[in-house]
Amino acid sequence: MQYRLIPAVPAEADDDRLLRLDVRLADGGRFQPEAASGFHIMELIRAYGLPIRAECGGACVCSTCHVRIPKVWHSILPPPSDEELAKLDEIPGADDTSRLACQILMTEPMDGMEIEVQPDSLLPQTSWVAG
Ligand code: FES
Repeated sequence: MQYRLIPAVPAEADDDRLLRLDVRLADGGRFQPEAASGFHIMELIRAYGLPIRAECGGACVCSTCHVRIPKVWHSILPPPSDEELAKLDEIPGADDTSRLACQILMTEPMDGMEIEVQPDSLLPQTSWVAG
């Protein structure tokens, strides 16, 4: 399987200011895709072509969008819902930096936020193609 990096900004973005995420993959890859507020982090990672599994498409039932976010960013994150906490409890090794990327809406204060996509949520990759 081959992945293409697509610097995508969803057309329905609710404001014009481009933000960035600092996405790190469990295999050592690091990418700083553009982002737009009002979209879920998982959608933004996917829109950029990064290999996050996210098998349920954001319904909070699969836990395959597991990311870790360093504690320095936690004060600007919305707290996890009971539903998200229940799914996080099912992930071996999840800790208090673990979140589900499909449950976090991008906001302006998250500009530059570090997101570490965990090994259990990475699609297998064979190669990358810069787009
Ligand atoms: S995409 Fe399935 S729980 Fe997030």
